[in-house]
Amino acid sequence: MNPAALSRILILDFGSQYTQVIARRVRECQVYSEIVRCDIAAAEIEQLAPRGIILSGGPASVYDKGAPQIDLQIFSLGVPVLGICYGMQLMARHLGGEVEYSPRREYGAGLLHLDKKTSLFEGLGEQIDIWNSHGDKLTALPEGFHAIAHTENSAFAAIADSERQLFALQFHPEVSHTPRGKEIIQNFLFRICHCAMDWTMGSFIDDACARIRRQVGEENVVLGLSGGVDSSVAAALLHKAIGDQLTCIFVNNGLLRENEAEVVQRVFGENFHIKLKYVDASERFLSALAGVTDPETKRKIIGREFIGVFEDAVVEENQKSARNAAVLESELSISNQQFRFLAQGTLYPDVIESVAIGGNPASLIKSHHNVGGLPEKMHFELVEPLRQLFKDEVRLAGQQLGLPNEIVQRQPFPGPGLAVRILGEVTPERLQILRDADTIVGSEMKASDWYYRVWQSFAVLLPVRSVGVMGDQRTYENTIALRIVESQDGMTADWVRMPYEILARISSRIVNEVKGVNRVCYDISTKPPSTIEWE
Ligand code: XMP
Repeated sequence: MNPAALSRILILDFGSQYTQVIARRVRECQVYSEIVRCDIAAAEIEQLAPRGIILSGGPASVYDKGAPQIDLQIFSLGVPVLGICYGMQLMARHLGGEVEYSPRREYGAGLLHLDKKTSLFEGLGEQIDIWNSHGDKLTALPEGFHAIAHTENSAFAAIADSERQLFALQFHPEVSHTPRGKEIIQNFLFRICHCAMDWTMGSFIDDACARIRRQVGEENVVLGLSGGVDSSVAAALLHKAIGDQLTCIFVNNGLLRENEAEVVQRVFGENFHIKLKYVDASERFLSALAGVTDPETKRKIIGREFIGVFEDAVVEENQKSARNAAVLESELSISNQQFRFLAQGTLYPDVIESVAIGGNPASLIKSHHNVGGLPEKMHFELVEPLRQLFKDEVRLAGQQLGLPNEIVQRQPFPGPGLAVRILGEVTPERLQILRDADTIVGSEMKASDWYYRVWQSFAVLLPVRSVGVMGDQRTYENTIALRIVESQDGMTADWVRMPYEILARISSRIVNEVKGVNRVCYDISTKPPSTIEWE
């Protein structure tokens, strides 16, 4: 199976916050979907040979100056098209309908009355709940189209030209507030586009292994393993594909959580028998961080040190293999003697090339996710076997590759580790306080099963000391903040309304068990305007 042979749905991105949700809904139906720029040429689409095209929503009005446009030939390719919201207005306007400009958005729940029998609404009955979020409204149909559903406010809430297989919806079928929206998407995929359900994790893994082997041939690959989900799944996948041609380097930067280094060594070294080079660089990182309190400076130092340690580890591996191959040591340099390739666990949301319209989050690439600078500096070629996957798909792949739950279901943990959760200077003593508090948060969250229901849950050590009383003694000690958030992708987040009993238990355990802490606070800020991490 390779993506070219799959049933493929192209999603043209007009900047909606829901574009990625559409792509995920399609993939949940086991059909491969890809997000592409909205200005893609019809000829290019023809080459990609999709079974269907979905035009996403977007924040613009079709009347805005510079509103995103579309190659009109797309409607003549003979490929079924489903326009959603902005996609509907664009389609209707270009095909001869009339769209009324509205400066105000209609936003919220509504009831859709299904008027005509159409394969798009097969099995849905007479009315369904829907979610609206649109400004402009269609007031006259384009030629060849008929209305297939209406709402109280709109006679043309859904329209179709069955002859040309063009469909359009004013509402959002992809969001969970349209409870039966998935059935509409399924109808589009299977009844209209005749897609096969060929996007499965098993077939992805086989295909990814074949592609990795084709790309790297007999060459060796190095991977910086952090113990997080993405690099771990990438490691397991590469190991399945190329076995001992893969070397993983795990850098202990001294900023890890309790037992983290042991878990990674056990899972990858002992269970998977992956070639794992463990580098304990704690002292190097901690002495570089001594006296530093500025958050950005801390991050820069950690990034710089990581590159240094990684380079040294690669050179050491090169020397080892050169000695084995009896190559003169003088011929060695940082150039990748042994390792031509660097593997990274880059995911699909990081690579979607999108038009930045109205601050579409999909267009914001999170640069901090990968270690910038390494590939250029060391002349590596990149291997990124997870580039096609969303996070939930990566977890699924990890499970199928046999990774244990403690790795696959891990919450995200930032590259700079506990350093961005210690406000002020990072010292061994303060690290120990945070580590102990964090261990309690983790174990209580797991024991109550909340760990897997939230995006992240962790402790932060504040640079604040306050007065307390313990026994008959006055204390003057540190404060821990608890951060527990829910989020879809880390771009926005809300604090979790945790049951009081669990908060109470975490708090009392921290104050009683962690030496140097006499107060615990709960962070009740959303992102934005706050961030998830404190630094
Ligand atoms: P913020 O703090 O920006 O975090 O709201 C958003 C998400 O990204 C994670 N994060 C990082 N991940 N390297 C990473 O790999 C980093 O430097 C980094 N900083 C933040 C954070 O844990 C959250 O999930």
